[in-house]
Amino acid sequence: SVLAVEVEQIQKGNYDHYMQKEIHEQPESLTTTMRGRLIHGGSKVKGVLLGGLKDHLRTIRRSRRILFIGCGTSYHAGLATRALVEELSGVPVTMELASDLLDRRGPVYREDTAIFVSQSGETADTLEALEYAKSCGALCVGVTNTVGSAIARGTHCGVHINAGCEIGVASTKAYTSQIAAMTMMALALGEDTLSSCSRREAIIDDLINLPDKVREVLKLDNDMKELAKELMEEQSLLVFGRGYNYATALEGALKVKEVALMHSEGILAGEMKHGPLALVDENLPIIVVATRDATCIKQQSVIQQLQARKGRLIVMCTKGDANLMCPNGSYRFIEVPQLQDCLQPIINIVPFQLLAYHLTVLRGFNVDQPRNLAKSVTIS
Ligand code: G6P
Repeated sequence: SVLAVEVEQIQKGNYDHYMQKEIHEQPESLTTTMRGRLIHGGSKVKGVLLGGLKDHLRTIRRSRRILFIGCGTSYHAGLATRALVEELSGVPVTMELASDLLDRRGPVYREDTAIFVSQSGETADTLEALEYAKSCGALCVGVTNTVGSAIARGTHCGVHINAGCEIGVASTKAYTSQIAAMTMMALALGEDTLSSCSRREAIIDDLINLPDKVREVLKLDNDMKELAKELMEEQSLLVFGRGYNYATALEGALKVKEVALMHSEGILAGEMKHGPLALVDENLPIIVVATRDATCIKQQSVIQQLQARKGRLIVMCTKGDANLMCPNGSYRFIEVPQLQDCLQPIINIVPFQLLAYHLTVLRGFNVDQPRNLAKSVTIS
């Protein structure tokens, strides 16, 4: 009806599509994710308070293992925060795609904490995995964006990510808010030991800087549109990442394939020599995520090896690092602002979201409702 169309236009504001609006909303959605959760001690922020988790922190810290369970983008958000949870809590974290855990009925124990990550809180596989983990006696924690959803109700405790309603089928702002929320969860899980003190403070400082840095990286919108014009006729796009940004590679490739309907694959750079290298030639576009962190020297050598095979590279690096990363290459660069390594995935995914969005518009596909996909997959 006319009214429905008008309401939709009002909701989209000045944007053409929900996905575009939700990408550009991220400075605000990240702010709401953190609101009221950073504890101020004197003039400085000292720690985090997650009301829905505080009575269970001791149990989680003492668990033998933490499982991150989800599907799609929500699984990637878990992958992005896995290393930090391990670092600060000392508890090993294993990753589970909900459907695979169910297919193999993988062992889950009473001493485990199972963390269910789901934007909608209604995904059938994730919900079924929750019932399974509960029946095994594990402590079940929800990380959802939907108050009152089945997963929020069915878990023993949890965290709401408070990203606001997400309408575009391709998840964007929920992904960055999931990472921010799980970063805060990692901080809450970590004991406040002297040795971790400066690390924790640095992460908290950068959580506060996060909205401004996202605002900065959103300025790449036009560059990503130009890159999309260059790539719009391609059949395929590879994305190499490692460490914290293995998740960026998987999630960046997922955005491109699900909305732009272009084959795209996220690859763990450490596995390059075990297969993917055979695909490299002068035609296939490859994005290498090589922002500054403990793995970036290794990424430099990945870039050199791709150069040696005349790969068509697009390098994502920290602002000012272009020459350092590729001294003798005339490649395209995506230069992004730097944050603490564990928060860098939030910054790094934004150019991919913009690229996927522009590719989709240029290729003439439906941005907000990609072919064959649903926002919430409630049947398995
Ligand atoms: C669907 C959506 C994805 C989402 C996945 C998991 O496939 O299209 O965007 O990542 O489900 O959804 P959830 O609501 O559990 O995060």
